Amino acid sequence: MIDAAWLPARAWRAIGSRRIRVTGHGLLVDTVVDELRQACARFGGEVVRGTGGDPCDLEMSLGGDGSLGGEGYELSGDETCTVLRAGQPHGLLYGLFHLLRSDDSPATGVFRPAVPRRMLDHWDNVDVHPVMGQVERGYAGGSLFWRAGEPRRDLARVTAYARLLAACGINAVALNNVNVHATEARLLTDRLGEVAELAGVFRHYGIRTHLAVSFAAPVLHGMSTADPLDRRVRAWWESTTVDVYATIPDFGGYLVKADSEGQPGPFTYGRSHADGANMLADALARHGGVVHWRAFVYNHRQDWRDRGVDRARAAHDHFTPHDGTFRDNVVLQVKHGPLDFQAREPVSPLIAAMPDTRIGVEFQVTQEYTGQQRHVCYLAPMWSELLRGAHGPAVADSAAEFVAVANVGDDPFWTGHPLAQANLYAFGRLAWEPGLDPAALLDEWAGLTFPGAPRRLHDALHAIMDDSWRTYERYTAPLGVGFMVRPGHHYGPDVDGYEYTPWGTYHHADRDGVGVDRTVATGTGCAGLYPKPWAKIYESPDECPDELALFFHHLPYQHVLSSGVTVIQHIYDTHFAGAREAAEMRERWAGLAGTVPPAKYERVRELLDEQVRSAEEWRDQVNTYFFRKSGVPDARGRRIY
Ligand code: GCU
Repeated sequence: MIDAAWLPARAWRAIGSRRIRVTGHGLLVDTVVDELRQACARFGGEVVRGTGGDPCDLEMSLGGDGSLGGEGYELSGDETCTVLRAGQPHGLLYGLFHLLRSDDSPATGVFRPAVPRRMLDHWDNVDVHPVMGQVERGYAGGSLFWRAGEPRRDLARVTAYARLLAACGINAVALNNVNVHATEARLLTDRLGEVAELAGVFRHYGIRTHLAVSFAAPVLHGMSTADPLDRRVRAWWESTTVDVYATIPDFGGYLVKADSEGQPGPFTYGRSHADGANMLADALARHGGVVHWRAFVYNHRQDWRDRGVDRARAAHDHFTPHDGTFRDNVVLQVKHGPLDFQAREPVSPLIAAMPDTRIGVEFQVTQEYTGQQRHVCYLAPMWSELLRGAHGPAVADSAAEFVAVANVGDDPFWTGHPLAQANLYAFGRLAWEPGLDPAALLDEWAGLTFPGAPRRLHDALHAIMDDSWRTYERYTAPLGVGFMVRPGHHYGPDVDGYEYTPWGTYHHADRDGVGVDRTVATGTGCAGLYPKPWAKIYESPDECPDELALFFHHLPYQHVLSSGVTVIQHIYDTHFAGAREAAEMRERWAGLAGTVPPAKYERVRELLDEQVRSAEEWRDQVNTYFFRKSGVPDARGRRIY
């Protein structure tokens, strides 16, 4: 059974009861017509192709002067007839899904995406990795694409997935893990047929397929070097790329994690990231392909004793000297925060620091550090804050495209936690239009997913989900300091788990205070890497937003935050509040029996039990830890162990 997620048959009722004319030709026009025919077969409407004939109440056509671009569309018309016009077939497809989510009152106007590429990275392995399993940081079962070394060939499921992605605006996928192991390196060569089969499915929904490749691929295929300036290496990439395009003419390009956490890269040969990325870009350019070159480069063998080294600066320090030197078809893919997808981080200082480079900003839809799809954590409010620039430079101002790590698997609900579907949906929609309101997106998602549901379900979903990211933040690491998770798998609390490790993720708590001094005056200088006015704001403990106080400062426990509360009391208050809110979520859900399908209801109910248990564990470990360190009691006398 495949869960329909945000495309259940009932959501098509209004469209499927219309008389619809479609003019235009091409693969995606056929996809649109197929979708409409299925809907009309169910709800009594009719689809006609070509011009002429009886009047229709929905007219869809291609044409115009090119101003709509490749994916844009225009909606117009009156009470009797809706008119959807697109320059290209892609626009027709996106226009169709626009009508689906707003058919009662379709907006009129011109709609175009903010960025041309909206991409999902799957961290899927072909072989089962001994530590990471089939999907690295996957919390939704196995891979949609591979099982134990073999392609699954469950193309019905991949088709259903491609439809869901198109319906929220995604137009590119990378199929495999950025950590490319030996088997996966062969997807580029002798296993390319598996990629072609999947690309054939995604193509029907306007989605281009990309591959993560190993920088050492030439060596893995028998050559003595992968030096990007070596003539033979360049020739290997060129001829390999020619073969890829002969098999997959609309192939998207290569995604590379190089010189990062042990992955091979140009440093081995004394070459720069620009040398490495540009070599691949040259091989791809004449085929219209791109390189996504990840900026997640830092020293993962750092000495914790050395306070001069700061992982939060690393990507900035590695890449800014190369601004303006990357080819046009290189996208530098930067994680949204300077550390690693924490529930709270400032925006990465690199994003605004490379004006002459195409920046792709990477989000993490898979909930590695935000509850691993066992906790409800609706991430759209976090992404929206980053995009708008609530506490730092606005990501949307610098991003040329948006990428996210996918959260799906072969789980019956796609995402493990049924409510985590909303994160995937919202990512796609925000990538299309970064200004969208997270609460309105929740309405959109819930309206499609639960058509005809009673008002109280929608109210309860808002009550449970709208603030769930902040709830999660409240019961986990405080004030932007990050981590405090169990090393390795990253689930659950372990305050000192990473404190004396080589990973560069520390909180520096001692008897007097906590937080990392990243100021220019006395710390690592990271605060100074931001543009005006943020460098000055972050530098000052009084002006720095409370949310980021411990990211930028080592503060005494008695330091008074701008909220008027001391650091230590803030820690206690938020942890008690967060655990209580998790319990309230569970209560609200309990009142919804009968309003959602029983299997979904049950799954969420079970997971909320785990969330409540985990939130209490976080509360008690964090509070006890800081009580023992500081000796300061809770001003409100609550129980601390
Ligand atoms: C995190 C994650 C890894 C992943 C890495 C990356 O560190 O834990 O599993 O490989 O990010 O983004 O490359």
